[in-house]
Amino acid sequence: MAFPKQFTWGVASAAFQVEGASNIDGRGPSVWDAFCDTPGKVFDGHTGEIACGSYDRVEEDADLIQNLGANAYRFSISWSRLFPKGTGERNEAGFAYYDRLIDALLERGIVPWITLYHWDLPLALHEQDGWLNPNSPIWFEEYTKAVVERYSDRVTHWFTLNEPQIFLGHGYKDGKDAPGLQLSRKEVLLATHHALLAHGRAVKVIRECAKSSPTIGFAPVGGLYTPETESASDLEAARKATFTIDEANWAFNYTWYCDPVFLGHYPEQGLELFGDDVPEFTDADMELINQPLDICGVNIYTAGVVRAGEDGHPEKLPDPVGYPMTMFRWTINPRSLYFGPKFLYERYGLPVVITENGLASMDWVHLDGKVHDTGRIDYLSRYLNELRRASEDGVDVRGYFQWSIMDNFEWAQGYALRFGLVYIDYQTLARIPKDSYEWFGRVIESNGESIPRL
Ligand code: NOJ
Repeated sequence: MAFPKQFTWGVASAAFQVEGASNIDGRGPSVWDAFCDTPGKVFDGHTGEIACGSYDRVEEDADLIQNLGANAYRFSISWSRLFPKGTGERNEAGFAYYDRLIDALLERGIVPWITLYHWDLPLALHEQDGWLNPNSPIWFEEYTKAVVERYSDRVTHWFTLNEPQIFLGHGYKDGKDAPGLQLSRKEVLLATHHALLAHGRAVKVIRECAKSSPTIGFAPVGGLYTPETESASDLEAARKATFTIDEANWAFNYTWYCDPVFLGHYPEQGLELFGDDVPEFTDADMELINQPLDICGVNIYTAGVVRAGEDGHPEKLPDPVGYPMTMFRWTINPRSLYFGPKFLYERYGLPVVITENGLASMDWVHLDGKVHDTGRIDYLSRYLNELRRASEDGVDVRGYFQWSIMDNFEWAQGYALRFGLVYIDYQTLARIPKDSYEWFGRVIESNGESIPRL
């Protein structure tokens, strides 16, 4: 059997990327609204004001997911829609929106998987120093508690933080994403420590307050490497490159974030590299961060390639000229969906769920009125073939979420890049299922049997 019987075939999105209605029904601004309003930050001045209009299209979008045949939908909650200022006063209209969404999914047999934080920190909290504030873990805990109290009668699957590597690395270190800060390494590591504590507090409060038994995970990303060949020495070099922290990847790596979460300690090698920049922390902090989790989520799109050099030292190989890449200029490396889950499963020992994987392209509506995204079908065929190989080789892979159900706001790229199985006409908000939507539907229906063996 290629994929286990109960495999989760899902699609994913995030609040700011699809909802729109940014000034409607009492939602407060987030750091991303402010970033979009800052000239030069987002492609062509695009904003999240309308996005895909999903706030007003709950039934239509739930139908799209149902007709695809997906059995799960991973979406995030907009913190500032529930708490316009991040803490304190609640916005009932915001809570009611997610009630509608959750109910629409459940009525269609789709399991809701909630991501609590997908980058849109309430602006009011940013004005109090955001993740640099030592109270930020408590803000997050209070927000999580309110979400869990409201929805856990119907929701059982939870992710805490999506890609802290990116919202801290691009948001606090190099300023490419909201809130656009360029802080010192010491400050970024402090903000990271607070985000990890926030994760721990959230897991704890979900376990304490959930009305139905929860499944909880974390959704990191990182610099992944696959081996040039499958020789034991190349394999070890790839593993080493994937889990080593260095000057280049110090914010974009797995280990600094995942070792505390899954193993309860910062990696020794990172501690040495960062020296005095490491924030002060206690054993109690590490215990709090290291809450038991049920799954290891991971977002995987690409990977570099390494070979074992002298003494087994990983040698990173440049992409050959003309190598296939996505519109994001990310190398297409299908084996990332074999080695990523394998390495994470070996290191952290938890069942793996691919929380995101997909292709950025520039699809358009063809003369026949359809969107023929053959590139996406090819990409997914190659990647899913490798995920199946991982599963067949004993990696405990429990689910796969395609990014994304529909084209959406791709952060600093605005609407220029399209990741969806469903095309969005941003002028009319019409939804047009692409060829890949039909293709992925067959994959789901056959529990992966229809994926070509390559
Ligand atoms: C990771 C992020 O979680 C998601 O928001 C983004 O759109 C995709 N990757 C594609 O870049």
